[in-house]
Amino acid sequence: MKLKSNNSIEPLTTKINNHNNLEIGGCDCVDLVQKYGTPLYIIDEETLRTACREYKNAFKNYEKTRFLYASKALCTSAILKIVSSEGFGFDTVSKGEIYTALNAGIDIKTSLFNGNNKTEDELEFAISNNIGRISADNFYELELLEKTAKKLNKKVDILLRITPGIECHTHEYIQTGTIDSKFGFGLNKIDTAIDLIKTKYKNINLKGLHAHVGSQIFELNIFKDEIEILIKEISRIQNKHSLTLTEINIGGGMGVKYIDNDKPLDVNEVAKTVISSIEMYCKKYNIEYPTLYIEPGRSIISPAGVTLYTAGSQKEIPEINKKYIALDGGMADNIRVCLYKADYTAKLANKPNNNDLENVTLCGRFCESGDVLIENIKLPKIETGDIICIFNTGSYNYSMSSNYNRVCKPAMVLVNSGFSDIIINRETFDDLIRNDVIPNRLNNV
Ligand code: LLP
Repeated sequence: MKLKSNNSIEPLTTKINNHNNLEIGGCDCVDLVQKYGTPLYIIDEETLRTACREYKNAFKNYEKTRFLYASKALCTSAILKIVSSEGFGFDTVSKGEIYTALNAGIDIKTSLFNGNNKTEDELEFAISNNIGRISADNFYELELLEKTAKKLNKKVDILLRITPGIECHTHEYIQTGTIDSKFGFGLNKIDTAIDLIKTKYKNINLKGLHAHVGSQIFELNIFKDEIEILIKEISRIQNKHSLTLTEINIGGGMGVKYIDNDKPLDVNEVAKTVISSIEMYCKKYNIEYPTLYIEPGRSIISPAGVTLYTAGSQKEIPEINKKYIALDGGMADNIRVCLYKADYTAKLANKPNNNDLENVTLCGRFCESGDVLIENIKLPKIETGDIICIFNTGSYNYSMSSNYNRVCKPAMVLVNSGFSDIIINRETFDDLIRNDVIPNRLNNV
């Protein structure tokens, strides 16, 4: 069976070309660097579209499936346009993400607005632009929603975000009960919320329940347990409140392969488990099959992305048998290593086949000792000026990037069939100081 895109460390189009260089999307990485500079984010359109299609194909037997790309993973106008053209709506979490979708000309009526502290202004923006669903997170927000919808003379369709009591931290299950999560209504608060909606909040139309159990999930049973909780609650709500909810949103979380040891789930297996769980629990708890929303982020965009860096200085510490190779990027374009001890894989883009291997640590250029991208990796002997390709950086890299040390953010290029197009311009120094203000009185001192 062909492996799915989330089971590939590299973009699906990656190969070594006749010039003995790494090629992605039909573009020679060395040429890309000459044209656009480094650090450079690259997104392979074919891998991205394949990931979307794999989801749609996997869930094709459950017609009531709706796909929402979790745009927090990577939100740019071009990326949203591509994903939208594959039939996905969006899981958005801020006015900025919604604004980006609108800027890309996307109708957000199939999208959802999610988050634990949406402001009144954000809710007003989302509702007046006809967002499809709002996932209401807490009592404060229910009140704000009613107020805003009333003001706009609209009815809003919402889901209730619930904390199902299953949390997944990377590969483990951690049962925290319903206590320790900043997101959503604890199961014991659902009845109060529904009472309010039924009696007080006339502009709110409750359609279903929403949960998200974690990210980089490698375990099928998590989805099964989550679905049971959602369906059991819908059945309980039906009996207790005579209210029929017709939608469940199971969130995202499907893992990807950063390193050889990662064993992500096959999207077909996930779909099989999700669909059979829905069928089984709908029967058990006696409810109709609901509309199913899924919100993958990482597994859609991560494998499509790589980052190219140029190797600069080197430092050898023979006492501890260590060699640092410093790259021209680091924690400001990829904070995930510092933040989560995330693992990555790399190759030399200009000599991927070289057999002269040595153990090195790829560190960044930022003023912090923890600014390391890959600790201890075997790579062909690196010389200053070599180009390093780090794989699987499509998700949560650019979206969590910063200007730490006042370094400009990298450009992002979309590659496909030998074409390359800028989708995010490299930041300039003018961009860096765009919002700086020197108060007048400082000019007189
Ligand atoms: N839906 C909800 C409600 C979420 O909170 C998230 C992610 C997703 C969907 C998408 O999850 P995914 O399919 O991407 O796993 N910055 C972290 C990941 C944070 C995920 C937050 N929520 C990282 O870099 O690993």
